[in-house]
Amino acid sequence: MPRLTMPPLLDTIETGKLELVALPGRTDFLGKEVTPTIGFNQPYLGPTIRMRNGPLAANVRNELDWQVSVHWHGLMVPGEHDGGPHLPISPGKQWQPDMEIRQAPATAFYHTHIHERTAVDVYAGLAGALQITDGRDDERGLPSNYGVDDLTLVLQDRRFDSQGRMTYDLSMMDVMHGFTGDTMLVNGQVGAAAAVPKGVVRLRFVNGSNARIYSLFADAGRPLHLIATDGGFLPAPVALEILRLAPGERAEVLVDLSDGRPVTLMSGGDPNEGAIGMVGRVRGIIDQIMDRSFVVLPLAVDDRLSPRITEMPRDLGGKLPKLNGSVGNTRRFSLDMGMGGGMMGTGMMGGLAINGRAFDMQRIDLEVRRGAVERWIVGSSMLAHPFHIHGAVFQVVRENGRDPRPENRGWKDTVLVENETELLVRFNHTASRETPYMYHCHILEHEDGGMMGQFTVG
Ligand code: C2O
Ligand code: CU
Ligand code: CU
Repeated sequence: MPRLTMPPLLDTIETGKLELVALPGRTDFLGKEVTPTIGFNQPYLGPTIRMRNGPLAANVRNELDWQVSVHWHGLMVPGEHDGGPHLPISPGKQWQPDMEIRQAPATAFYHTHIHERTAVDVYAGLAGALQITDGRDDERGLPSNYGVDDLTLVLQDRRFDSQGRMTYDLSMMDVMHGFTGDTMLVNGQVGAAAAVPKGVVRLRFVNGSNARIYSLFADAGRPLHLIATDGGFLPAPVALEILRLAPGERAEVLVDLSDGRPVTLMSGGDPNEGAIGMVGRVRGIIDQIMDRSFVVLPLAVDDRLSPRITEMPRDLGGKLPKLNGSVGNTRRFSLDMGMGGGMMGTGMMGGLAINGRAFDMQRIDLEVRRGAVERWIVGSSMLAHPFHIHGAVFQVVRENGRDPRPENRGWKDTVLVENETELLVRFNHTASRETPYMYHCHILEHEDGGMMGQFTVG
């Protein structure tokens, strides 16, 4: 089994500079045929960008012959630096946001965000992981040796044709459910295994899939100790049997391999696969009978690597959100999939919208006051949708009428909405009418299909 490699680390801490180039490439995923791909600074995906608080001068060049952008998903920067659909970089051009990073340590994500091209271009490779660090992980007792005991894992699922070329042919079902593949990629690699020291290992998951919702667990009943959500650290590790991770979400977990035994990271089936209407209900019953779980990544101890951390840390220093103080507006969002009502496809095309309106670049959907905390009540029908907000972090207050699941109790910027989820959102950063923030479903086919809105903060 090939050994899993990390994306190259692009450390901006010394230089305060970040250089990205969107490039065409060719990638042989299965050892058979090459696929034309795209990436940042390399043929497929991009480097892991490490940054700390302070000024960061970015320079993004586009060497592709169509528009791309770089959205810093999870960075709290103003709209003009956010890299959304209003900030396209034309072929041969560059974009140079002079950013100021100021936020808690976290694992974030970056990807292209051109309206109606996000799904196809992220699929082809324009995405990567990002980490904001404060250099104090030793004090927290956390593994932080990049690629040794601190692994960045970009999770993606893909399809391949019989020659071994990666394919993206959307059927009507793929548009409705979002595109899911049958082959697991971690950091762009198929069938690789990670080699780790005999100790506590940190896994930073980035769900970079177009639509797949993972239900991650370790075999042999070993727990995943959740230490951080989208917005950063929890107060203390929380042992989970299963960690749900929807597109756009990130989570950091610790796994204890100090007994030297290997661990296989697995995922349960995607709850959205075949979940629409009647067909979905029948499938749901079949799924309970047929186990659809699959291997995400085997981890094995390599005795040549010396462990630095051998005990679970107790105090991570994070704080759970408590935004109940002074809540302003309440707004409701319904993530709509049209009026189809049941059978596959019929009458449902073009129905992707929020509150009945498909995304329109020319229309500002909401205006929010800077400094406000708002109550956003988000409802889903037919499928579970990962709801993401740019330029803000939020607290999940209620999920389907109950207290949030453990993995949704920390600071979040993306949350899987199954039925109804209530959020308290804090808006601390500004976005103008020219470069508004987005809120959308992070199933990329849904986002491109119109399940997105935009707002200003001022
Ligand atoms: Cu990760 Cu608006 O996106
Ligand atoms: Cu985002
Ligand atoms: Cu959706």
